[in-house]
Amino acid sequence: MTAATLSAELLRAEGDAVDEAARRLRAGALVAFPTETVYGLGADAANAGAVARLYAAKGRPSFNPLIAHVAQLEHARILGRFNDIAERLARSFWPGPLTLVLPKAETCSVAELATAGLDSIAIRVPAHPVARALLAEFGGPVVAPSANRSGHVSPTTAAHVRADLGDQIDMILDAGPAQVGLESTIVACLGDASILLRAGGVPRDAIEAAAGASLGSSGGREGVNPLAPGQLASHYAPGKPLRLDANSVKRGEALLAFGPALPPGAENAALVLNLSPHGDLTEAAARLFSHLRALDASVAAAIAAMPVPEQGLGEAINDRLRRAAAPRT
Ligand code: TXA
Ligand code: MG
Repeated sequence: MTAATLSAELLRAEGDAVDEAARRLRAGALVAFPTETVYGLGADAANAGAVARLYAAKGRPSFNPLIAHVAQLEHARILGRFNDIAERLARSFWPGPLTLVLPKAETCSVAELATAGLDSIAIRVPAHPVARALLAEFGGPVVAPSANRSGHVSPTTAAHVRADLGDQIDMILDAGPAQVGLESTIVACLGDASILLRAGGVPRDAIEAAAGASLGSSGGREGVNPLAPGQLASHYAPGKPLRLDANSVKRGEALLAFGPALPPGAENAALVLNLSPHGDLTEAAARLFSHLRALDASVAAAIAAMPVPEQGLGEAINDRLRRAAAPRT
């Protein structure tokens, strides 16, 4: 496989396409597939060579560990050790947009490269029917970061994946737009306290209710968080500058709107895209990354983003917006 000459085959995820994707994963290929959160770039987690190609395709710093995706809780037990809270969270939210960081089990087959040499491992059981079918057919763990070039916003359609990685990977399974639109929530269950490492598709209050305890915060908002090495402040950066909490639109700006009332200057904006005209945070999450991509591709010089309430999924939406606005690292 010579990465430079690859051109990804884009297949509707139906008929034999999922079986073919599993065969290619077994052969060490890179296959992008839909999950309910965002599209992932999959590789056989036990194949260090495939994992190395995956890092190269993404242009990702190799100290950033990956999430191992499995078809069901029983497979997750082979990879990580569950304490009581992890057990409760898995039963409440799997399959679904939750990732658990657990102590690595003795039986863990995931390549050291994929966990960046840590003695913990991030595990997720996704809910998307195509992801579940692929993982069941493949039969082992598949590591899958979001299928974007490192530093770009995560892909919520197969077209986003092709735009970012089309010449670097083998195959893209297309099942239409991702429903949740934000990456999974990541919770570390490594000791007595459970810690929220990344806000995401399951809101904090739902997790705290299921855990019967409040979550500690990683405090890694600004810069590198030692617990979640991938959480660089500028991780979700569009190419254009992004201005937060905009209550007006300046000359040359495009507007990322939220809710029914637009701020002054919106009538002169280069482009207005609304996350949710009636202020629904679930709808806003599903549209966030595709709107950011479209605004970034517009003629505007910069993007102004209206405030989004910090409740429910708003915590994760605001986290991604703050990262998109952060100085580039
Ligand atoms: O929704 C999602 O989680 C998507 C879909 C494809 O499943 N995947 C995803 O993967 O967002 P990625 O690689 O873009 O983000 C994984 C995050 C990174 O910030 C990484 O640092 C963190 O998980 N992570 C992975 N293993 C970890 C570990 N052992 N300890 C702490 N953080 C870890
Ligand atoms: Mg990512």
